[in-house]
Amino acid sequence: MKTALSFDDVLLVPAYNDIESRSDVTLETDVAGVHLHTPIIAANMPSVCEYDMADAIGYLGGIGIIHRMQPILRQCEQVANNAMYQTGAAIGIGDDWQERAESLLGAMATIICLDVAHGHQERVVEVALEFLDRYDSPLIVGNIATAAAAADFANQIAPVDHSRVALKVGVGGGSVCTTRIKTGFGMPTLQSVMDVYEALDAMDSEISIIADGGLKSSGDIVKALAAGADAVMLGSLLAGTREAPGDVIKDDKTGLKYKVYRGAASYGAKESFSGATEYVEGAELLIGYKGSVQKTVLSLTDGIKSALTYCGVDNLTDLCDESEFVRITEAGFKESMPHGIF
Ligand code: XMP
Repeated sequence: MKTALSFDDVLLVPAYNDIESRSDVTLETDVAGVHLHTPIIAANMPSVCEYDMADAIGYLGGIGIIHRMQPILRQCEQVANNAMYQTGAAIGIGDDWQERAESLLGAMATIICLDVAHGHQERVVEVALEFLDRYDSPLIVGNIATAAAAADFANQIAPVDHSRVALKVGVGGGSVCTTRIKTGFGMPTLQSVMDVYEALDAMDSEISIIADGGLKSSGDIVKALAAGADAVMLGSLLAGTREAPGDVIKDDKTGLKYKVYRGAASYGAKESFSGATEYVEGAELLIGYKGSVQKTVLSLTDGIKSALTYCGVDNLTDLCDESEFVRITEAGFKESMPHGIF
Protein backbone atom coordinates (compact mmCIF):
# COMPACT_ATOMS: atom_id res chain seq x y z
CA MET A 1 0.00 0.00 0.00
CA LYS A 2 1.29 3.43 -0.92
CA THR A 3 1.99 6.03 1.78
CA ALA A 4 0.41 9.40 1.00
CA LEU A 5 2.01 12.47 2.51
CA SER A 6 0.20 15.46 3.93
CA PHE A 7 1.54 18.96 4.59
CA ASP A 8 2.35 18.15 8.22
CA ASP A 9 4.30 14.99 7.29
CA VAL A 10 7.09 16.90 5.58
CA LEU A 11 9.45 19.85 5.88
CA LEU A 12 11.63 21.63 3.35
CA VAL A 13 15.39 21.43 3.89
CA PRO A 14 17.09 24.83 4.37
CA ALA A 15 19.64 25.49 1.61
CA TYR A 16 22.51 27.92 1.02
CA ASN A 17 21.16 31.44 0.58
CA ASP A 18 22.69 34.37 -1.24
CA ILE A 19 19.47 36.38 -1.53
CA GLU A 20 20.06 39.45 0.60
CA SER A 21 16.52 40.45 1.39
CA ARG A 22 12.95 39.22 1.13
CA SER A 23 12.30 42.21 -1.09
CA ASP A 24 14.64 40.72 -3.76
CA VAL A 25 12.30 37.85 -4.55
CA THR A 26 9.33 37.62 -6.88
CA LEU A 27 6.11 35.64 -6.49
CA GLU A 28 5.08 35.98 -10.15
CA THR A 29 3.42 32.93 -11.67
CA ASP A 30 1.28 31.86 -14.61
CA VAL A 31 -1.90 29.84 -14.28
CA ALA A 32 -3.36 28.59 -17.55
CA GLY A 33 -1.62 31.49 -19.25
CA VAL A 34 -3.03 34.07 -16.83
CA HIS A 35 -0.21 36.03 -15.23
CA LEU A 36 -0.45 36.56 -11.47
CA HIS A 37 1.79 38.65 -9.24
CA THR A 38 0.79 36.53 -6.25
CA PRO A 39 0.08 32.78 -6.44
CA ILE A 40 -3.16 33.06 -4.48
CA ILE A 41 -6.63 32.23 -5.78
CA ALA A 42 -9.77 32.84 -3.72
CA ALA A 43 -11.89 29.67 -3.65
CA ASN A 44 -15.12 29.60 -5.64
CA MET A 45 -17.23 29.15 -2.52
CA PRO A 46 -20.32 31.15 -1.48
CA SER A 47 -18.73 32.18 1.82
CA VAL A 48 -15.37 33.08 0.26
CA CYS A 49 -15.58 34.75 -3.12
CA GLU A 50 -18.02 37.28 -4.41
CA TYR A 51 -17.34 40.79 -5.73
CA ASP A 52 -15.52 42.28 -2.69
CA MET A 53 -13.12 39.34 -2.30
CA ALA A 54 -12.36 39.15 -6.04
CA ASP A 55 -11.68 42.88 -6.08
CA ALA A 56 -9.34 42.74 -3.05
CA ILE A 57 -7.46 39.63 -4.19
CA GLY A 58 -7.10 41.10 -7.69
CA TYR A 59 -5.64 44.27 -6.18
CA LEU A 60 -3.18 42.12 -4.23
CA GLY A 61 -1.99 40.37 -7.42
CA GLY A 62 -3.93 37.12 -7.18
CA ILE A 63 -7.32 36.23 -8.60
CA GLY A 64 -10.74 35.46 -7.16
CA ILE A 65 -13.13 32.93 -8.67
CA ILE A 66 -16.74 34.05 -8.24
CA HIS A 67 -18.79 31.04 -7.10
CA ARG A 68 -21.57 29.55 -9.19
CA MET A 69 -24.13 28.91 -6.45
CA GLN A 70 -26.18 31.89 -7.54
CA PRO A 71 -28.23 32.91 -10.57
CA ILE A 72 -26.23 33.55 -13.76
CA LEU A 73 -27.19 37.22 -13.87
CA ARG A 74 -26.00 37.89 -10.31
CA GLN A 75 -22.71 36.07 -10.93
CA CYS A 76 -22.18 38.04 -14.15
CA GLU A 77 -22.82 41.36 -12.39
CA GLN A 78 -20.10 40.55 -9.88
CA VAL A 79 -17.65 39.78 -12.68
CA ALA A 80 -18.60 42.82 -14.75
CA ASN A 81 -18.36 45.18 -11.75
CA ASN A 82 -14.83 43.99 -11.20
CA ALA A 83 -13.38 45.61 -14.30
CA MET A 84 -10.19 46.83 -12.57
CA TYR A 85 -8.66 43.41 -11.87
CA GLN A 86 -8.65 39.92 -13.31
CA THR A 87 -11.65 37.98 -12.13
CA GLY A 88 -12.53 34.34 -12.68
CA ALA A 89 -15.88 32.63 -12.40
CA ALA A 90 -17.07 29.07 -11.87
CA ILE A 91 -19.43 26.94 -13.95
CA GLY A 92 -20.67 23.37 -13.50
CA ILE A 93 -21.35 20.50 -15.88
CA GLY A 94 -25.15 20.80 -15.69
CA ASP A 95 -27.37 21.70 -18.65
CA ASP A 96 -26.83 25.43 -18.16
CA TRP A 97 -23.02 25.27 -18.38
CA GLN A 98 -22.84 26.84 -21.81
CA GLU A 99 -25.30 29.63 -21.09
CA ARG A 100 -23.42 30.42 -17.87
CA ALA A 101 -20.00 30.26 -19.53
CA GLU A 102 -21.03 32.47 -22.43
CA SER A 103 -22.65 35.03 -20.12
CA LEU A 104 -19.57 35.13 -17.87
CA LEU A 105 -17.23 35.55 -20.80
CA GLY A 106 -19.53 38.31 -22.07
CA ALA A 107 -19.11 39.94 -18.64
CA MET A 108 -15.33 39.78 -19.24
CA ALA A 109 -14.37 36.93 -16.92
CA THR A 110 -10.61 36.40 -17.25
CA ILE A 111 -10.76 32.67 -16.62
CA ILE A 112 -13.50 30.08 -16.22
CA CYS A 113 -13.35 27.35 -13.60
CA LEU A 114 -15.18 24.11 -14.38
CA ASP A 115 -16.02 23.11 -10.84
CA VAL A 116 -16.92 19.51 -10.02
CA ALA A 117 -16.19 17.70 -6.74
CA HIS A 118 -14.93 14.56 -8.52
CA GLY A 119 -13.43 15.79 -11.78
CA HIS A 120 -12.10 12.46 -13.04
CA GLN A 121 -15.13 11.64 -15.17
CA GLU A 122 -16.15 11.58 -18.81
CA ARG A 123 -18.66 14.44 -18.64
CA VAL A 124 -15.97 16.81 -17.31
CA VAL A 125 -13.68 16.04 -20.25
CA GLU A 126 -16.61 16.43 -22.66
CA VAL A 127 -17.53 19.87 -21.32
CA ALA A 128 -13.88 20.96 -21.07
CA LEU A 129 -13.19 19.97 -24.68
CA GLU A 130 -16.30 21.71 -25.94
CA PHE A 131 -15.44 24.82 -23.95
CA LEU A 132 -11.85 24.93 -25.22
CA ASP A 133 -13.02 24.38 -28.77
CA ARG A 134 -15.63 27.15 -28.67
CA TYR A 135 -13.87 29.83 -26.65
CA ASP A 136 -10.34 31.27 -26.45
CA SER A 137 -10.60 31.70 -22.68
CA PRO A 138 -8.27 29.94 -20.23
CA LEU A 139 -9.92 27.15 -18.25
CA ILE A 140 -9.43 25.65 -14.79
CA VAL A 141 -10.76 22.11 -14.42
CA GLY A 142 -11.16 20.22 -11.17
CA ASN A 143 -10.99 18.69 -8.81
CA ILE A 144 -8.74 15.73 -9.34
CA ALA A 145 -6.36 13.96 -6.95
CA THR A 146 -4.27 11.41 -8.82
CA ALA A 147 -1.61 10.97 -11.48
CA ALA A 148 -4.04 8.76 -13.41
CA ALA A 149 -6.68 11.49 -13.48
CA ALA A 150 -4.13 14.08 -14.65
CA ALA A 151 -2.72 11.79 -17.35
CA ASP A 152 -6.21 10.81 -18.59
CA PHE A 153 -7.25 14.42 -18.76
CA ALA A 154 -4.04 15.56 -20.49
CA ASN A 155 -4.33 12.75 -23.04
CA GLN A 156 -7.99 13.41 -23.72
CA ILE A 157 -7.44 17.12 -24.34
CA ALA A 158 -4.29 16.42 -26.37
CA PRO A 159 -5.38 18.44 -29.44
CA VAL A 160 -5.83 21.58 -27.33
CA ASP A 161 -3.08 24.00 -26.29
CA HIS A 162 -2.35 22.80 -22.74
CA SER A 163 -0.88 26.14 -21.70
CA ARG A 164 -4.37 27.65 -21.36
CA VAL A 165 -5.57 24.92 -19.01
CA ALA A 166 -5.08 24.39 -15.26
CA LEU A 167 -6.03 21.44 -13.09
CA LYS A 168 -7.38 22.04 -9.60
CA VAL A 169 -5.80 19.37 -7.44
CA GLY A 170 -7.11 18.07 -4.12
CA VAL A 171 -10.02 15.85 -3.14
CA GLY A 172 -11.41 15.74 0.37
CA GLY A 173 -8.76 17.96 1.98
CA GLY A 174 -10.81 21.14 2.41
CA SER A 175 -11.24 22.37 5.97
CA VAL A 176 -15.04 22.21 5.71
CA CYS A 177 -15.06 19.12 3.56
CA THR A 178 -16.69 15.92 4.83
CA THR A 179 -16.09 13.79 1.71
CA ARG A 180 -13.49 11.60 3.41
CA ILE A 181 -15.77 11.02 6.39
CA LYS A 182 -18.86 10.36 4.28
CA THR A 183 -17.24 8.25 1.56
CA GLY A 184 -13.81 7.12 2.74
CA PHE A 185 -12.30 8.53 -0.47
CA GLY A 186 -9.67 11.20 -0.85
CA MET A 187 -5.95 11.84 -0.96
CA PRO A 188 -3.79 14.23 1.07
CA THR A 189 -3.52 17.36 -1.06
CA LEU A 190 0.29 17.55 -0.95
CA GLN A 191 0.60 13.97 -2.25
CA SER A 192 -1.92 14.72 -5.00
CA VAL A 193 0.09 17.74 -6.11
CA MET A 194 3.33 15.72 -6.12
CA ASP A 195 1.72 12.92 -8.16
CA VAL A 196 -0.02 15.21 -10.64
CA TYR A 197 3.15 17.26 -11.14
CA GLU A 198 5.16 14.12 -11.86
CA ALA A 199 2.55 12.81 -14.31
CA LEU A 200 2.26 16.08 -16.24
CA ASP A 201 6.02 16.59 -16.23
CA ALA A 202 6.57 13.11 -17.68
CA MET A 203 4.16 14.01 -20.50
CA ASP A 204 5.81 17.40 -21.07
CA SER A 205 2.39 18.92 -20.59
CA GLU A 206 2.09 22.63 -19.90
CA ILE A 207 -1.11 22.25 -17.87
CA SER A 208 -0.84 24.38 -14.72
CA ILE A 209 -1.50 23.00 -11.25
CA ILE A 210 -3.58 24.67 -8.52
CA ALA A 211 -3.30 23.08 -5.07
CA ASP A 212 -6.73 23.18 -3.41
CA GLY A 213 -7.88 22.14 0.04
CA GLY A 214 -6.31 21.88 3.47
CA LEU A 215 -3.79 24.74 3.29
CA LYS A 216 -3.60 26.13 6.82
CA SER A 217 -0.61 28.49 6.72
CA SER A 218 1.98 30.16 4.47
CA GLY A 219 4.19 27.15 5.22
CA ASP A 220 1.60 24.84 3.62
CA ILE A 221 1.37 27.19 0.63
CA VAL A 222 5.16 27.02 0.22
CA LYS A 223 5.10 23.20 0.42
CA ALA A 224 2.39 23.08 -2.27
CA LEU A 225 4.38 25.41 -4.55
CA ALA A 226 7.58 23.43 -3.93
CA ALA A 227 5.71 20.22 -4.80
CA GLY A 228 4.78 21.61 -8.21
CA ALA A 229 1.73 23.83 -7.82
CA ASP A 230 1.71 27.05 -9.84
CA ALA A 231 -0.75 28.62 -7.41
CA VAL A 232 -2.92 27.72 -4.44
CA MET A 233 -6.65 28.04 -3.92
CA LEU A 234 -7.63 29.21 -0.44
CA GLY A 235 -10.90 28.84 1.43
CA SER A 236 -10.52 28.95 5.20
CA LEU A 237 -7.47 31.21 5.13
CA LEU A 238 -9.53 33.93 3.40
CA ALA A 239 -12.89 33.17 5.07
CA GLY A 240 -13.84 35.33 8.04
CA THR A 241 -12.29 38.43 6.51
CA ARG A 242 -14.18 41.66 5.88
CA GLU A 243 -14.29 40.94 2.14
CA ALA A 244 -15.70 37.41 2.50
CA PRO A 245 -19.48 37.30 1.89
CA GLY A 246 -21.78 37.26 4.91
CA ASP A 247 -22.47 39.36 7.98
CA VAL A 248 -20.23 39.71 11.01
CA ILE A 249 -21.80 37.94 13.99
CA LYS A 250 -21.04 39.41 17.39
CA ASP A 251 -21.19 37.36 20.59
CA ASP A 252 -22.62 39.86 23.06
CA LYS A 253 -21.21 38.00 26.09
CA THR A 254 -17.59 37.81 24.96
CA GLY A 255 -17.55 40.65 22.45
CA LEU A 256 -15.88 38.28 19.98
CA LYS A 257 -16.78 38.57 16.30
CA TYR A 258 -17.27 35.77 13.76
CA LYS A 259 -18.32 35.01 10.21
CA VAL A 260 -19.86 31.79 8.92
CA TYR A 261 -17.67 29.59 6.69
CA ARG A 262 -19.64 26.98 4.79
CA GLY A 263 -18.61 24.07 2.61
CA ALA A 264 -19.97 24.55 -0.89
CA ALA A 265 -21.76 21.19 -0.48
CA SER A 266 -22.93 21.91 3.06
CA TYR A 267 -26.52 22.10 4.26
CA GLY A 268 -26.59 25.89 4.49
CA ALA A 269 -24.94 26.53 1.13
CA LYS A 270 -27.19 24.07 -0.70
CA GLU A 271 -30.32 25.29 1.03
CA SER A 272 -29.72 28.93 0.25
CA PHE A 273 -28.94 28.18 -3.42
CA SER A 274 -31.27 25.44 -4.57
CA GLY A 275 -33.25 24.37 -1.53
CA ALA A 276 -31.89 20.84 -2.08
CA THR A 277 -30.49 19.64 1.21
CA GLU A 278 -31.05 15.89 1.23
CA TYR A 279 -27.35 14.94 0.90
CA VAL A 280 -24.46 17.08 2.09
CA GLU A 281 -20.70 16.63 1.92
CA GLY A 282 -19.58 19.76 3.66
CA ALA A 283 -19.58 21.31 7.12
CA GLU A 284 -20.37 24.81 8.40
CA LEU A 285 -18.44 26.61 11.08
CA LEU A 286 -17.92 29.95 12.71
CA ILE A 287 -14.57 31.49 11.97
CA GLY A 288 -13.06 34.33 14.01
CA TYR A 289 -13.48 37.68 12.27
CA LYS A 290 -10.11 38.65 10.76
CA GLY A 291 -10.68 42.18 9.44
CA SER A 292 -9.22 43.20 6.11
CA VAL A 293 -8.16 40.41 3.74
CA GLN A 294 -5.18 42.54 2.75
CA LYS A 295 -3.64 41.97 6.18
CA THR A 296 -4.10 38.20 5.83
CA VAL A 297 -2.70 38.02 2.29
CA LEU A 298 0.29 40.24 3.05
CA SER A 299 1.17 38.04 5.99
CA LEU A 300 0.93 34.95 3.73
CA THR A 301 3.05 36.51 0.97
CA ASP A 302 5.65 37.64 3.52
CA GLY A 303 5.85 34.02 4.65
CA ILE A 304 6.32 32.78 1.06
CA LYS A 305 8.99 35.41 0.39
CA SER A 306 10.85 34.43 3.54
CA ALA A 307 10.64 30.76 2.44
CA LEU A 308 12.38 31.59 -0.86
CA THR A 309 15.36 32.90 1.09
CA TYR A 310 15.50 29.66 3.13
CA CYS A 311 15.72 27.85 -0.21
CA GLY A 312 18.24 30.35 -1.60
CA VAL A 313 16.13 31.14 -4.67
CA ASP A 314 14.40 34.29 -5.84
CA ASN A 315 11.39 32.89 -7.71
CA LEU A 316 8.75 30.16 -7.53
CA THR A 317 10.02 28.10 -10.49
CA ASP A 318 13.39 27.69 -8.78
CA LEU A 319 11.65 26.86 -5.50
CA CYS A 320 9.97 23.93 -7.23
CA ASP A 321 13.13 22.84 -9.07
CA GLU A 322 15.60 23.16 -6.22
CA SER A 323 13.76 22.48 -2.99
CA GLU A 324 14.13 19.20 -1.15
CA PHE A 325 11.49 17.62 1.09
CA VAL A 326 12.16 15.41 4.07
CA ARG A 327 9.58 13.25 5.74
CA ILE A 328 9.40 13.91 9.47
CA THR A 329 8.37 11.80 12.44
CA GLU A 330 5.70 12.65 14.98
CA ALA A 331 8.47 14.01 17.23
CA GLY A 332 9.60 16.25 14.36
CA PHE A 333 6.05 17.50 13.92
CA LYS A 334 5.76 18.28 17.64
CA GLU A 335 9.06 20.15 17.47
CA SER A 336 7.70 22.19 14.52
CA MET A 337 4.76 23.48 16.53
CA PRO A 338 5.08 26.32 19.03
CA HIS A 339 6.26 24.74 22.29
CA GLY A 340 8.20 25.54 25.40
CA ILE A 341 9.01 24.37 28.89
CA PHE A 342 5.82 24.28 30.94
P1 XMP B 1 -9.81 25.10 2.60
O1 XMP B 1 -9.08 24.02 3.35
O2 XMP B 1 -8.92 26.14 2.04
O3 XMP B 1 -10.46 24.32 1.35
O4 XMP B 1 -10.94 25.67 3.40
C1 XMP B 1 -11.19 24.96 0.34
C2 XMP B 1 -11.61 23.92 -0.68
O5 XMP B 1 -12.45 22.93 -0.09
C3 XMP B 1 -13.27 22.35 -1.11
N1 XMP B 1 -14.67 22.40 -0.66
C4 XMP B 1 -15.43 21.35 -0.33
N2 XMP B 1 -15.18 20.06 -0.38
N3 XMP B 1 -17.37 19.62 0.43
C5 XMP B 1 -16.17 19.18 -0.02
O6 XMP B 1 -15.98 17.97 -0.10
C6 XMP B 1 -17.69 20.93 0.51
O7 XMP B 1 -18.79 21.29 0.92
C7 XMP B 1 -16.67 21.84 0.09
N4 XMP B 1 -16.65 23.17 0.01
C8 XMP B 1 -15.41 23.49 -0.45
C9 XMP B 1 -13.06 23.17 -2.37
O8 XMP B 1 -12.17 22.48 -3.23
C10 XMP B 1 -12.43 24.45 -1.83
O9 XMP B 1 -11.69 25.18 -2.78
